[in-house]
Amino acid sequence: MNSELEEIKKKLEELKAQHILVPKMSMIKTKEQIDGIREAGLINTGILDTVSLQIHAGMSTEEINTIVHNYTISHNAIPAPLNYEGFPKSVCTSINDVVCHGIPSKKEILKEGDIINVDVTTIYKGYYADASRMFIIGKAKPIAEKLVRVTKEMLDECVKSIIPWKSHLGDIGEICTRIARRNGFSVVENIGGHGVGLDFHEDPYVSHVAKAHTGVLLVPGMVFTIEPMVNEGRSGVYQDLFDGWTVRTIDHKLSAQWEYTIAVKEDGIEILTH
Ligand code: MF3
Ligand code: CO
Ligand code: CO
Repeated sequence: MNSELEEIKKKLEELKAQHILVPKMSMIKTKEQIDGIREAGLINTGILDTVSLQIHAGMSTEEINTIVHNYTISHNAIPAPLNYEGFPKSVCTSINDVVCHGIPSKKEILKEGDIINVDVTTIYKGYYADASRMFIIGKAKPIAEKLVRVTKEMLDECVKSIIPWKSHLGDIGEICTRIARRNGFSVVENIGGHGVGLDFHEDPYVSHVAKAHTGVLLVPGMVFTIEPMVNEGRSGVYQDLFDGWTVRTIDHKLSAQWEYTIAVKEDGIEILTH
């Protein structure tokens, strides 16, 4: 273990002795590892920027998959979703009442007024970076525009709130539920963010419905996603039995999601993927 990690380990042991819930050392990354995740993040951001320039009404979600796949491969990177636990495509595309894990298809055509989440995860030199954005196709109804905006604000508020050595993981969930409730929306309860970087999904699990001051302390070296899924109506969701992936709202009202990969550092947090 290098001296940088040794120092964090010592601090964590002291805090643990004071009965503060602290992360395991396996959740702490070195500066070198964070540099690697940042590089993967730059490619990931390039992919989402490219999608953002090309997405339009009349295109299929399969075409989005092609854009993501080709950009990734041409940058000597690997699209993490492809073949992940049997997922058949290189990106998740989730339209309207689809909450997450939508599978791109030639038969699915974007139309004016749709809202869509494009969730991209890139592996570069063994490092993983994960992010998603919402896109509004043309002009959507006001409630859809509000849902997309509020979900983005929620993610940004979570990021702003984090103070290294002071915030706890549960603070994130408290912020999400408060903002959703204030706007008449609900937060998906059983799918959350995750540690990321050396693998696709690592510890800790990041709940968007937790209580403040609960969960592990947020300390330098932790890298995880924040990715709230916010519903226009009820919070309940179900998984498509036929494809085994697509998650939809039970009331078939709209759902939105934004995701960043962030790193906790000594002087604050860094967003590694936009
Ligand atoms: N990118 C998603 C996340 O944010 C996970 C997608 S898993 C896949 O965690 F297999 F559907 F790609
Ligand atoms: Co993702
Ligand atoms: Co994620």
